[in-house]
Amino acid sequence: MLRPAVINPATRPEITPTLEAALSVRIAAALDALRAAKAEFPSVAFANSFGAEDMVLTDLILTHGLGIDMFSLDTGRLPPETYTLMADVEARYSTRLKVFFPETTAVEDYVREHGINAFYGSVERRKACCRIRKVEPLKRALTGREAWITGLRAAQSATRTELALREHDASFGIAKFNPLAAWSEPEVWAYIRIHNVPYNALHDQFYPSIGCAPCTRAIAVGEDIRAGRWWWEDASLKECGLHVKTS
Ligand code: ADX
Ligand code: SF4
Repeated sequence: MLRPAVINPATRPEITPTLEAALSVRIAAALDALRAAKAEFPSVAFANSFGAEDMVLTDLILTHGLGIDMFSLDTGRLPPETYTLMADVEARYSTRLKVFFPETTAVEDYVREHGINAFYGSVERRKACCRIRKVEPLKRALTGREAWITGLRAAQSATRTELALREHDASFGIAKFNPLAAWSEPEVWAYIRIHNVPYNALHDQFYPSIGCAPCTRAIAVGEDIRAGRWWWEDASLKECGLHVKTS
């Protein structure tokens, strides 16, 4: 991965009184959404990718004792910085992470048939890899649950502008909560700074959105937040199947 010498200024917004005031309204609303989700669906779980948004949710859930389950999908191709952060989270919050891995045979078959980095070959190959390494483990993680929580934000990309705080996820047949749907990037970072929340070191190196190492790169100033994800593909295709648009 490229390592720019300059630190991404987006991770250090100026914390003005206006930003602080907006943030406290956002925090109250997110806590309400999380508590309501837990009250209505006791089996609800938070899918934690350890991105900046997910670190806000991790901190809210664990410091407010909301009793919400948390799980993560380890695709086997995550950047080393993400594993470092995962260990930091375990230490900081005195918790043990619940990690789901892909089915070994499915990964072996895919790699034997198509090659170790076959996802660069075509959108179909890329989606097949995401299906094996992310979507199938997510299905297992959500088995028996009536709802899940994500760190999605509407402002993240053209594919997410319609995002609601609460949706029905038709692909899993359960409710889906996006408590940070309305948050801005400066609000996310103001929360991280004010509460001294651990975060992925790649964010400082112009990686606003982090997935698997081979499919994520740094963005240029002014580029879309998700421009570094599957950068070789058309912007309208940049979803991995975890978040299929429903209602
Ligand atoms: S993705 O669809 O492009 O991979 P993105 O990285 O923006 O998604 O993350 C959006 C939300 O999906 C995260 O806030 C998180 O709730 C969930 N998510 C994505 N990747 C993972 C992962 N590896 N483990 C758990 N949840 C994930
Ligand atoms: Fe495979 Fe890339 Fe999708 Fe990760 S993001 S599961 S490496 S195609």
